[in-house]
Amino acid sequence: MIDYQLLRSYLFMMPPEVAHTLTFRGLDWLHACGLLKSYCQRQLVDLQCKPKTLMGLRFPNPLGIAAGLDKNADHIAALACLGVGFIEVGTITPRAQLGNERPRLFRLPAEQAVINRMGFNNKGVDHLLMRLRQYRQQGGTAIIGVNIGKNKDSDDSIADYQTGLQRVYLDADYVVVNISSPNTPGLRDLQNQDQLMHLLTALKNQQQNLDKKVPLVVKIAPDLSEVALEHLITVLLRTEIEGVIATNTTITREGVSHLRYGNEAGGLSGLPLRPLADRVLKQVVEQASGRLVVIASGGVSSPEHALHKLQLGADLVQVYSGLIYQGPVLIWQTLKQLR
Ligand code: FNR
Repeated sequence: MIDYQLLRSYLFMMPPEVAHTLTFRGLDWLHACGLLKSYCQRQLVDLQCKPKTLMGLRFPNPLGIAAGLDKNADHIAALACLGVGFIEVGTITPRAQLGNERPRLFRLPAEQAVINRMGFNNKGVDHLLMRLRQYRQQGGTAIIGVNIGKNKDSDDSIADYQTGLQRVYLDADYVVVNISSPNTPGLRDLQNQDQLMHLLTALKNQQQNLDKKVPLVVKIAPDLSEVALEHLITVLLRTEIEGVIATNTTITREGVSHLRYGNEAGGLSGLPLRPLADRVLKQVVEQASGRLVVIASGGVSSPEHALHKLQLGADLVQVYSGLIYQGPVLIWQTLKQLR
């Protein structure tokens, strides 16, 4: 199989979105002809971790793929072969939307970082559901979280989240309420105490009126002040939300503003996000003290980073940007350390 560092040198000659599309075309093709599974199975020999049961779900290992990599659930089967413990798809909105104009995705290799202002480009919830059901019908058993958001042109945010929740409810293993993307105007305001209380109460009521209990998880930004974060966690605890993802991308540019693309608008992820995400993670763990399942995301670029997040008290850890720079070997090396 091709060495990822070599492949990366070609991929990095292309615009990031083209590289993303080609990578998934390759992965899907390798999966369709059976090569991906057999190759990954060889990498995964002796890497079984102790399963963890959280929110009523049995996670085979605590390492997952963060939202945004597979927005439309088009590649779940291929991603599941890599050996991750769970996959989060989305962010999905009720209606399909194009997202922002290109270019909207930038690499900052000197800091192993990425800036994106994709703007929830996605094929809409119906498409995602169709793909998720296809995956299940073909026998797929991976834990799939569905991350939901609002359409850019919607004037009723709460109704959009309610629609998303209602539509994906029976097919998702957990549902993530994304109120922290910096690329949809006004979205982050939903993190304010009153608005959040209103939104989460509505979604909790909806959850309680449905037969099956699907856990609700809220994804938060790394840019909240200590006080704002304290208020936010209080709302999560009061509304009895099951889990939290700390964190999404940052709007700060600490350590990257001197780099090419370092001042592009959007959310910064990868290595420079790690200290901010870890600060939020620590505060969440401390305040929630076991009452919320905590999923850590932000800046995992080595197995040690993933371990560190677990040591800080995270129950699960997600990766995205690290995969762009390290490839799937990051998953296998991390599983080796976790084991
Ligand atoms: C993201 N992320 C993201 N998050 C989310 O909740 N919904 C989304 O649609 C997206 N889209 C998205 C696109 C791109 C190109 C990137 C790089 C990131 C955020 C992602 O899930 C993760 O929380 C952050 O990237 C931080 O983790 P890493 O990348 O530092 O491991």
